Amino acid sequence: MAKTIIFIGPPGAGKGTQAQRLAEEKGFVHISTGDILREAVQRGTELGKKVKEYIEAGKLVPDELIINIIKEKLKELDGKDIILDGFPRTIAQAEALDKMLKELGRKVDAVILFEIPDELVIERLSGRRIDPKTGKVYHIKYNPPPPGVEVIQRDDDKEEVIRKRLEVYHQQTAPLIEYYRKQNKLHIVDASKSPDEVYKEILNVIE
Ligand code: AP5
Repeated sequence: MAKTIIFIGPPGAGKGTQAQRLAEEKGFVHISTGDILREAVQRGTELGKKVKEYIEAGKLVPDELIINIIKEKLKELDGKDIILDGFPRTIAQAEALDKMLKELGRKVDAVILFEIPDELVIERLSGRRIDPKTGKVYHIKYNPPPPGVEVIQRDDDKEEVIRKRLEVYHQQTAPLIEYYRKQNKLHIVDASKSPDEVYKEILNVIE
């Protein structure tokens, strides 16, 4: 059966970085709800208009909205190995996901929790840069963009918004840790290590 892997962790823990590498090297389809929403904002679609203020304030968008997006996405990915990066983020989203996967004859195979102290998150996110053409993630100190690649900073990577996102994570997303621990699906990786070390830990879980 096709694999369904969930990445959970605070903002800036490295979920997107690791998911991009697994997509490149192992053929997983990387589904990032953050990327989907940001693209909608950039294109100025109806969805984009609805979610812009939530994202800029560091708050979660309404459950119903994001659940509908994932529902459509999952239907297109029959038979493919997927990584869900940034979904689910609330218990209501996790319950909806279980139901959707069941209807598609799939299940959650593993949940990887990226553990990292809050102080490190601030450093990582304030140095994060994105190549808007490819979506590739860089860091001015830990993974600088190659010469000639023009990069931008995300609007929600300002310190006050990062702090709000962390608060939202601890209040609304952290309860998922117990939800998946009870199902024996939770695997913890030390996300403060180097990207290569984190990648190895993840491969140990999913292979
Ligand atoms: P989203 O885009 O999902 O943001 P996030 O969860 O806050 O995660 P980030 O993308 O900030 O961090 P990451 O863990 O992917 O880290 P990265 O690999 O980039 O969500 C944004 C917004 O969308 C939310 O606030 C909300 O409004 C909305 N939203 C999305 N999903 C939703 C949902 N399900 N429900 C409701 N609302 C939703 O790494 C960070 C930096 O560190 C980079 O610069 C990277 O180069 C560097 N780095 C990575 N790994 C390492 C390492 N091991 N060592 C050193 N540096 C590293």
